[in-house]
Amino acid sequence: MIELIQKLVEAWGPSGYEHHVREIIRAEVADLADEITVDPLGNLICRVGQGGPKVMISSHMDEIGVMANYAEPNSGYLRFTNIGGVLATTLIGHRVHFENGVTGVIGAPDMFGASRTTAPDLDEFFIDVSDGNGNNAVAVGNPATFWRKFEQRGSRLISKAMDDRIGCVVAIETMRRLKKAKKKKLPNELYFVFSVQEEVGLRGARPAAYSVDPDIGIALDVTATGDMIKNAKMDVKLGGGATIKVHDTGLVVPPAVVNWMVNRAEADGIPYQKELLTLGTTDAAGIQSSRSGVPSGAISIPCRYVHTTSETVDSKDVEACIQLLTGLLSNPAKL
Ligand code: CO
Ligand code: ZN
Repeated sequence: MIELIQKLVEAWGPSGYEHHVREIIRAEVADLADEITVDPLGNLICRVGQGGPKVMISSHMDEIGVMANYAEPNSGYLRFTNIGGVLATTLIGHRVHFENGVTGVIGAPDMFGASRTTAPDLDEFFIDVSDGNGNNAVAVGNPATFWRKFEQRGSRLISKAMDDRIGCVVAIETMRRLKKAKKKKLPNELYFVFSVQEEVGLRGARPAAYSVDPDIGIALDVTATGDMIKNAKMDVKLGGGATIKVHDTGLVVPPAVVNWMVNRAEADGIPYQKELLTLGTTDAAGIQSSRSGVPSGAISIPCRYVHTTSETVDSKDVEACIQLLTGLLSNPAKL
């Protein structure tokens, strides 16, 4: 599974440009799904089983990034806008990759003056793409993602795009285990959706939910933790197990969905914790408010340093999430 994690988190895929990630996942799930389609926005929709309650499981393929929006004349410097929730305090000295392989370095004016203590506004930063020979390989309108290679420290896994490639891994691994365990017919009709454009406002999951028309929705995504030094008060910690969402800024999970997940975790002896997130939301909010309304919840992977190049998860939590999802989907999905 580590090879798959590395391949997916190092893949290039800012919101709206998920095609490389989609091809990796499509190859990975080719033998695990009964039907695979790509919808007009680029969501990869994989059906497993037929008949019974319809459950949509969504993990997003896109990651945050930047897009060049102005080239400073004869300088090799680009101005840029954000794709998704880019934090200004994380930018100076960081590298971005454009799709054509060009590495950009982010700088800010007055780095040893005002920018040393106060993050400038986003439009004051620039990306250096100069090659020393006056060539300009990047054009206005080209998107880029932040770049760091994947690293491991014990059971900690560190990457620029745990959000949400680790959710994609949980989905793929669950598909693999369902396939392996499939002796008799699955009790549910499952739609594993690898969604586009979550980071810019759940723009993929909502239309995908329209076409799937599920009875229940589950999002797989990272969530923040409250276990950092001088932490905000949040009752989620790294290594604390699969995290069952109760509430975030876009979603109140119906109690029946929370109980469905909690009961499964307790019946199967899976470590779990409850999530109340005070900033951010995920695909479940898009699914829940689609069509005439779909009861939806989320299984979250605890993650430190979300939306930085060092998003850190624990592989024990990843395993707990896979076990919880596999348990939920192997039994009739009744709320
Ligand atoms: Co995110
Ligand atoms: Zn996410």
